[in-house]
Amino acid sequence: MKSLVVRAIILIASLGWTVSSYAANLGPTPEQQKKHLELFHKGQTLWPIYCNHCHNARNPAEFAPYQWDQIMMHMRTMENMPPEDEAAILEYLKTAR
Ligand code: HEC
Repeated sequence: MKSLVVRAIILIASLGWTVSSYAANLGPTPEQQKKHLELFHKGQTLWPIYCNHCHNARNPAEFAPYQWDQIMMHMRTMENMPPEDEAAILEYLKTAR
């Protein structure tokens, strides 16, 4: 009898773990999606303004997301860009393609 109770507890606990780990892999939450869209639209507006300043604004599809990380580190320092504008432009460049 005791082992049945123990087994039931183990079964319920592992079911709970399975369900919660599945839920964790479902993708972005609505709040994360909202934040992404806000950043994306701000970046979309700022990208031509900042990047056309010194050369033609480069197409987001030209470079992979990890390359944009490196490129933006360089461009941000040359332009002395506020971090919140950089974050928005980076979100746009990495996800618009
Ligand atoms: C202050 C002037 C300036 C601004 C603003 C600027 N860039 Fe640049 N960018 C340069 C210069 C100069 C080079 C080439 C020399 C170098 O790499 O330092 C360059 C090179 C690049 C390159 C490399 C080109 C290649 O073919 O390898 C990319 C990509 C780029 N910029 C993207 C951007 C993006 C995106 C923005 C907007 C966020 C931006 N730049 C804003 C001056 C600027």
